Amino acid sequence: MPKKILVTGASGFIGSHTCVELLAAGFEVVAVDNLCNSAPEALLRVERIAGKSISFHQIDVRDRAAMTAVLAEHAIDAVIHFAGLKAVGESVAQPLMYIDNNVSGTVALLEVLAAAHVKRFLFSSSATVYGDPETLPILETSRLSVTNPYGRSKLMVEQILADLVHADAQWQVGVLRYFNPVGAHASGLIGEDPGGIPNNLMPFIAQVAVGRRDKLSVFGNDYPTPDGTGVRDYIHVADLALGHVAALNRLFSCEGGFTVNLGTGRGYSVLDIVRAFEAASGRAVPYQIVPRRPGDIASCYASAEQARELLGWTAQKNIDDMCADHWRWQHQNPQGYAA
Ligand code: NAD
Ligand code: WQD
Repeated sequence: MPKKILVTGASGFIGSHTCVELLAAGFEVVAVDNLCNSAPEALLRVERIAGKSISFHQIDVRDRAAMTAVLAEHAIDAVIHFAGLKAVGESVAQPLMYIDNNVSGTVALLEVLAAAHVKRFLFSSSATVYGDPETLPILETSRLSVTNPYGRSKLMVEQILADLVHADAQWQVGVLRYFNPVGAHASGLIGEDPGGIPNNLMPFIAQVAVGRRDKLSVFGNDYPTPDGTGVRDYIHVADLALGHVAALNRLFSCEGGFTVNLGTGRGYSVLDIVRAFEAASGRAVPYQIVPRRPGDIASCYASAEQARELLGWTAQKNIDDMCADHWRWQHQNPQGYAA
């Protein structure tokens, strides 16, 4: 019998790519999403790529009755919880919305899962829980410190999960701290489709390259980095998706939980990414240097050792693959899923 995985936030950027890899690995997918930041088209395309179907439920994870009904309908073996809000600036302006969705939403989900005796759980955390790191690369044991309500919501959920595991050893929880996910499925059929002005670097660059925006604003060139611009650990979303398959397999084969970084272990600057994207797309990406973005840090990249040791997983794709695949998606879908 194939194992059934409940995926919340399934039609979002990382969720949709993970569904592709789950189906390819032989899992069945039960998808939940309220579509507050994604399009129904995404999961239709996932089904097309995989040649398999998904049971989709348009539900808010905070809706306990609806989630209970989903769990009554499907015998779920494990859960991957992507659903949540992720815009740092928005979280500063609307902290209660982030607590309600990301923290209360997760608590509601955990309560419903506990009642249904579904206690294998992977959580989408973020490198944001490390704040401004004291040392690089960042180890899972590095100091935790958050600088905004979004980051706080992730750290709060990590702490709630630790308390839950402490209280009830039946819970098997994997906390996955993603670094900077970019790229798209190699088919160009699914990818990141931000509404409005992109907050993140790669989607902004892609929209400049495709002609939707005039130029990139580079937020500061006076950081203590090789070229003065911010350095991050960009990870291909397909590698990240495979990290979830590896993490699930560990949950199914071992007792107990884990907390791992999902990154490549390598950092690239903003200008490195501009150059790599220009090479991959054959388009110019004009930019101007502007002042630093408040709250940004100089450098952030993972130690990827723990993921290799515990999950047997390492990222395979390089920065040229990330840019080429991101460009293919952007070029084939200049207006995202809307068209
Ligand atoms: P996304 O916005 O593309 O996907 C999140 C999905 O969750 C969306 O489809 C949205 O409609 C859905 N959703 C939100 N609130 C919901 C709710 N209450 N009930 C049901 N569905 C809900 O974001 P993503 O980039 O795919 O991120 C997925 C997860 O990974 C998030 O938890 C995010 O915080 C985390 N994360 C993302 C990044 C990143 O840079 N993309 C980095 C680290 C961690
Ligand atoms: C990358 C670099 C910017 C946009 C954020 C969240 C983090 C995580 C991933 C969810 C930085 C520079 C960016 C632009 C620029 N998300 N930049 N011009 O800030 O590392 O992380 O997304 O968990 O929590 O904080 O990613 O893509 O926004 O920025 O110069 O228009 O690009 O200053 O150096 P960041 P990013």
